[in-house]
Amino acid sequence: MRFLRQANHYFEKFKGVIKLTNILEINDLTKRFGGIQALDGVSLNLNEKEIVGLIGPNGCGKSTTFNVMSGVMEGDGGSVMLYGEEVYGLPSDQINRLGMSRTYQDTRLWRDLTVIENLMLPPKNQLGVKVLNSLFTRNRIKKEEKEILEKAYDTLDLLEITHMANHYCSELSGGQSKLVDLGRVLMSDPKILLLDEPVAGVAGPLAEKIFERIGTLRDELGLSVLIIEHNMDFILQQGVDRVFVMSNGRVVVEGTPSEIQQSKTVIEAYLGE
Ligand SMILES: Nc1ncnc2c1ncn2[C@@H]1O[C@H](COP(=O)(O)OP(=O)(O)OP(=O)(O)O)[C@@H](O)[C@H]1O
Ligand SMILES: [Mg+2]
Repeated sequence: MRFLRQANHYFEKFKGVIKLTNILEINDLTKRFGGIQALDGVSLNLNEKEIVGLIGPNGCGKSTTFNVMSGVMEGDGGSVMLYGEEVYGLPSDQINRLGMSRTYQDTRLWRDLTVIENLMLPPKNQLGVKVLNSLFTRNRIKKEEKEILEKAYDTLDLLEITHMANHYCSELSGGQSKLVDLGRVLMSDPKILLLDEPVAGVAGPLAEKIFERIGTLRDELGLSVLIIEHNMDFILQQGVDRVFVMSNGRVVVEGTPSEIQQSKTVIEAYLGE
């Protein structure tokens, strides 16, 4: 916990100078795949320490929104203001360094490595097998890696999965893999987390636990979280602050969970699935 709290402490100090509450603002994102207008002017925002849901039926553009806003995919236009700075079109690693990290709908773990090793390594899509081999053949955990090791254990503690540290990722259940993936993303000290279906395929009680831990990340580390979830009923029960509902590449409604529950537009968006 020490490293994470320390990072948070410095951020709090820095933030005191600039006093921003609307930390992420997306405007008019567009993206076309051949004949499909996947994003048709998506606009949404995230305030500091908020937990916000992004929901909508299959294929409505939720993951594409994350892909374009996180720099993983080139968009056709729009704006992504992060802490008041335009980051639309920047490469994903640069956006990551500015404090916004994401998970993918499919968890991206090294299945043949242990949980703790997965947390200690750079993300799977940023490391070749050659580099991996040279890292692990000589001295598995070098002295200078002790700090990273300590931070990885702190992260597992925070997520209450320390007992899984030496399990191979190939042995984990879907829900456990989702938690480890969350831990892996936390290793880059993000301030904003974009989670793409963090509980998809996870059984009810564990799914609720994962949401509880996301709440802990907000309360203890001051994170702001945007969560994609396919199941509307589930997310509305998890105490999120606000919800954006997408349909056909657009945000059609924004509101509190109780407002969303009563919205005719939302019901129609889901029935039209
Ligand atoms: N790389 C791609 N190439 C071509 N079409 C794509 C690509 N990615 C997404 N699409 C299309 O864009 C539309 C939006 O897809 P997206 O994955 O963003 O939906 P989603 O809301 O995340 O759906 P789900 O709930 O199934 O995850 C869909 O019609 C999809 O088929
Ligand atoms: Mg998706």
